[in-house]
Amino acid sequence: MTAAPTPDQPSATNTPQPVPLPAAAAGAGDGPAPGPAAPGDTPAVLARGLTKVYGSGEAAVHALRGVDVAFARAHFTAIMGPSGSGKSTLLNLLAGLDSATSGSIALGGKDLPNLSDKDLTVLRRTQVGFVFQAFNLLPMFTAEQNIRLPLDLAGQPVDQAWWDSVISTLAIGDRLSHRPAEMSGGQQQRVAIARAVITRPDVIFADEPTGNLDTRTGVEVLAFLRRCVRELGQTVVMVTHDPAAAAHAERVVLLADGLVAGEILHPTPESVLAGLDALRTVA
Ligand SMILES: Nc1ncnc2c1ncn2[C@@H]1O[C@H](COP(=O)(O)OP(=O)(O)O)[C@@H](O)[C@H]1O
Ligand SMILES: [Mg+2]
Repeated sequence: MTAAPTPDQPSATNTPQPVPLPAAAAGAGDGPAPGPAAPGDTPAVLARGLTKVYGSGEAAVHALRGVDVAFARAHFTAIMGPSGSGKSTLLNLLAGLDSATSGSIALGGKDLPNLSDKDLTVLRRTQVGFVFQAFNLLPMFTAEQNIRLPLDLAGQPVDQAWWDSVISTLAIGDRLSHRPAEMSGGQQQRVAIARAVITRPDVIFADEPTGNLDTRTGVEVLAFLRRCVRELGQTVVMVTHDPAAAAHAERVVLLADGLVAGEILHPTPESVLAGLDALRTVA
């Protein structure tokens, strides 16, 4: 694991406090609470026979070699596997950021490969949130401008209660006027997470979202993602190499050499480690 550029220790006054999530809270209103999807529900994301080849000829890299995977609505799934097993490639394809070589992807009932560029852009802006491994914050924008960007692009107003909840949970209230270069790696990561969830997308994809965070902030971010699932019915798909982080998910999908190699339900750090060990002995 690479260390953050600078240690990211929130000060005592900056400690995030649990805040009630507005609206759509579990149990509120008459409708069924968003919770684990019933068997038979359409999954939030479904991929069949997904392949991805980078380059061609001698230099071709078969990053995905026929991935079949489904992510249930309002579930928190972690994707794990050795470096180079295709985790980031899979996440990019599922989020519509890159196109597959072959295979199908359905997200929110839409067939991604068949969408026009315009419809794909709308889907990415309204239904998908993405936390990049390398943050991808815009350097000339302040934290606040970066977080607002998806709302501005989608023409959505700011929901002040949700904004306050996101900013305070991620403890970035005192960094909103800073540019990315003026923030630690951990702070940039938390801004990137805020940007991904601010539109309340149906599906949040996160590539190593806790990779640059100290343990305590990492746990808070994972708890925040869990609340997005439990209280707002969002679907979270998170790539991680940290068994402790994966244990916050409800399910771990194991990837090896561009294929799904197994899954672990109700993961614990121990069962995740055992699953990863098993991958190594098979390989
Ligand atoms: N843009 C790219 N061009 C060429 N090869 C790539 C590209 N992106 C990833 N790869 C290759 O595809 C394979 C899977 O990469 P990746 O999805 O990043 O794996 P992971 O995230 O599990 O480490 C690796 O062999 C990697 O080198
Ligand atoms: Mg990766």
